[in-house]
Amino acid sequence: MKNVLFVASEAVPFIKTGGLADVVGSLPANFDKRYFDVRVMMPKYNCMYQKYKDMLEYVTNFYMPYNGQNVYVGIFKTQWDGVTYYFIDNEYYFSGESAYTTDTKWDLERFIFFSRAALSAMPLINFRPDIIHCHDWQTAMIPVYIHDSFQAGDFFRGIKTVLTIHNLKFQGTWDVETIQQFSGLSDYYFAPDKLEAYKDANVLKGGLVYADAITTVSSTYAEEIKTEFYGEKLDGLLRAREHDLRGIVNGIDYGTYNPETDPFLEHKYNAKNFRKEKIKNKRALQKQLGLYRSDNAFMIGIVSRLTGQKGLDLVSYVMDELCNDDIQLVVLGTGEEQYENMFRHYDWKYNDKVRANIYYSEELSHKIYGSCDAFLMPSLFEPCGLSQLMSLRYGTVPIVRETGGLKDTVEPYNEFEGRGTGFSFTNYNAHEMLGAIHYAHNVYVNHRREWNKIIDRDMAADFSWAVSARQYQDMYDWLRP
Ligand code: ADP
Ligand code: GLC
Repeated sequence: MKNVLFVASEAVPFIKTGGLADVVGSLPANFDKRYFDVRVMMPKYNCMYQKYKDMLEYVTNFYMPYNGQNVYVGIFKTQWDGVTYYFIDNEYYFSGESAYTTDTKWDLERFIFFSRAALSAMPLINFRPDIIHCHDWQTAMIPVYIHDSFQAGDFFRGIKTVLTIHNLKFQGTWDVETIQQFSGLSDYYFAPDKLEAYKDANVLKGGLVYADAITTVSSTYAEEIKTEFYGEKLDGLLRAREHDLRGIVNGIDYGTYNPETDPFLEHKYNAKNFRKEKIKNKRALQKQLGLYRSDNAFMIGIVSRLTGQKGLDLVSYVMDELCNDDIQLVVLGTGEEQYENMFRHYDWKYNDKVRANIYYSEELSHKIYGSCDAFLMPSLFEPCGLSQLMSLRYGTVPIVRETGGLKDTVEPYNEFEGRGTGFSFTNYNAHEMLGAIHYAHNVYVNHRREWNKIIDRDMAADFSWAVSARQYQDMYDWLRP
């Protein structure tokens, strides 16, 4: 039996800001329980839903030296979907209104605390991991600590570490002095072949140097990040570690995302009856959002963090051209003000065609996946992307840019061979994107039988966790034969 402990900053159902939470909250339940005991450790945020806070049971507490003080660390736990979750409690660090703040320095203090506290808590929970599996910069200090002081005691000796990159753009960077103070690490670690990068200290880089294995969330992204364009200035290091780097594509939870049982859908449907049933959801959504009522309007959905990563500059550039057609655009997302306001503007300008829902809503997201004809995701870069997988599952045809996980999970439609699950374009160019949308629209209007066959293939595609969980298991076995 191998013990694996995920340490991460978010997990559904407790808290979610993006795809990381979906992954950490659904992958652990998919391992072969005869051979792997996989558990999760995360912060106990005060902003978690009350319902979940009420589930937590107190384990113990201790005090830990941190940033010049002796700091309280509480440990809580609960079970969810057959998986044990541990929570690290400290009100000073985790009582804010959201998991992350806009103050990078403060977040560094919070998550270096979390990483240190997580390690210090491990000997107290009756679960010694063989492998600690870290996710993104928030927990990337753990492999560094394991290399450093935590090797001293017997408990940590021989523990292997994995670091998964969900998004290379976020690295946890600040000046050396500050990170040194938070981490308590010696000068030795603040050199250009360790945590230092371009004169600053970089937490993710530390993890990438010291983790025994590195993964990222699709094969294409694993290749891309070794190049300058996608490498976010760490491509050199990633090339140097390429033998320890692999891409394992994400899955989604096929129980939560299932059009046949989804409680958020007025009209449930499946691969057999979608032709008759799915349109009813589209009508309901047109009514709910006050869009013009039409079965034939080509309804496109976007559910996304509204940031530069997601290719929204392309959308902004051709909005008027797009809205000249018989299309409808339903947007759900929050993020950078420029994009929020851009969609609000077009919502005002084309009020019966465009709806900008600038907030977070699990319910509306499911309704969009279960009602729209197509789903647009023209990302500048995309480590994996889960929204397109949700769209496939709901028979909502993805239109994507060929990058990262989008390239690995959406097969472009080929009208001559009758293949493909979506529409795609290569270059980061607004008119190339518009071309792909027009092509999809044309198939939708003029070749409806072909369109429905695309949906058949979408709903038959399998992006549940089974295959990817096996790849993680193989990696754990390779690390600890
Ligand atoms: P990323 O992690 O980069 O944000 P992913 O595609 O991997 O992108 O995952 C995004 C997840 O967040 C999906 O589950 C998507 O449905 C969800 N999501 C994004 N924005 C919202 C929102 N405003 N309301 C509800 N769900 C959202
Ligand atoms: C990141 C990426 C996204 C990926 C998610 C889960 O947020 O932006 O592409 O799907 O992590 O791995």
